[in-house]
Amino acid sequence: MKAFLSVALLLCVGLAVSVWIGFHSRFSEGTLPFDDDQKGIKDQVVIKFSHVVAENTPKGLAAQRFAKLVNEKSEGKIKVEVVPNGGLYSDQEELEALKRGDIQMIAPATTKLSTFSPKFQVLDLPYAMPTRESMIEVLNGDIGKTLLQSLTNSNMKGLTFWTNGFKQITTNDGPLKSPSDLKGQTFRIMPSPLLEKQFQLLNAKAVGLDFNETYRLLESGELNGEENTISNIYSKKFFDVQSHLTVSDHGFLGYAVIMNEDFWNGLSKSQQQILKESLQETTTWNQTYSFEMNDEQLRLIEKQSEIEIYHLTKEEKRKWADFFEPVYKAFDEEIGTELIEQIKKVRANHSEL
Ligand code: LMR
Repeated sequence: MKAFLSVALLLCVGLAVSVWIGFHSRFSEGTLPFDDDQKGIKDQVVIKFSHVVAENTPKGLAAQRFAKLVNEKSEGKIKVEVVPNGGLYSDQEELEALKRGDIQMIAPATTKLSTFSPKFQVLDLPYAMPTRESMIEVLNGDIGKTLLQSLTNSNMKGLTFWTNGFKQITTNDGPLKSPSDLKGQTFRIMPSPLLEKQFQLLNAKAVGLDFNETYRLLESGELNGEENTISNIYSKKFFDVQSHLTVSDHGFLGYAVIMNEDFWNGLSKSQQQILKESLQETTTWNQTYSFEMNDEQLRLIEKQSEIEIYHLTKEEKRKWADFFEPVYKAFDEEIGTELIEQIKKVRANHSEL
């Protein structure tokens, strides 16, 4: 019996030792069982890219295209995570989050950057860029460079501009054919002293509000109307809660694509190169496609809704542009005479009015 117990004990000890050896050799450093998805995860750079519009918009699609290009060019080593529809942050919050470094990338409407750099308001001057070509010339030329440069004091690295298109006006109290038709109405605008001034001239009230608040306030009747691009009017269904749309083309809406500057500086030269190339390709695509998209979505609004659409004639646009002329003078000091003169030159060269 004693001998039997000794043999059994020996066997148990032997088994325990071999299990321990097997376990140890399998899980000791360097030989962990490996899940392919985890490969290189330690070296992966993640860029969180937050924005407030729908996916089916010039900015939403550009952000996705950029993410795809970066993934391909970096062979998965740089991952851009796009969060649309204000899913992470609202308009003002995303700017603060970027500065803190909680997210790495945003593409706010240029209007929203005027609190950091008042020069950005040059792009909001009414009828300053009357054609697509004039927008491209301004954004990709000297004016655009000056504006992106002016962000560096705010820990923001301005990289490029994406376009959406021309702003139009919607209301529940139309039609709006001449500037006097807006009198007494309340409109949602992007927070901006210049846009406020524009509506003051019209004897209308303008309220600076978050983009994703707009639909609810139009629906409840707290606002009469708003100004935005066709693409934003379509993708957020503003046309469902408005009776009139005036195609006025009175202003520009586009985006400065920005990264947190510390984050950008911490990237290697080759990582920066991948991001620059991907942005360049995306920008070229966006600056063409955004205009087509607005045209196409205007046709869809016509088809899908009862909203009454009025296109200002050339004559009428000229009248509106003259009417808004005092805005240029009022913002001469804040924007700077030189920039205003530069944009006036572009306007004169491309004038459709
Ligand atoms: C708005 O607030 O109306 C726009 O900035 C939305 C956008 O980003 O296009």
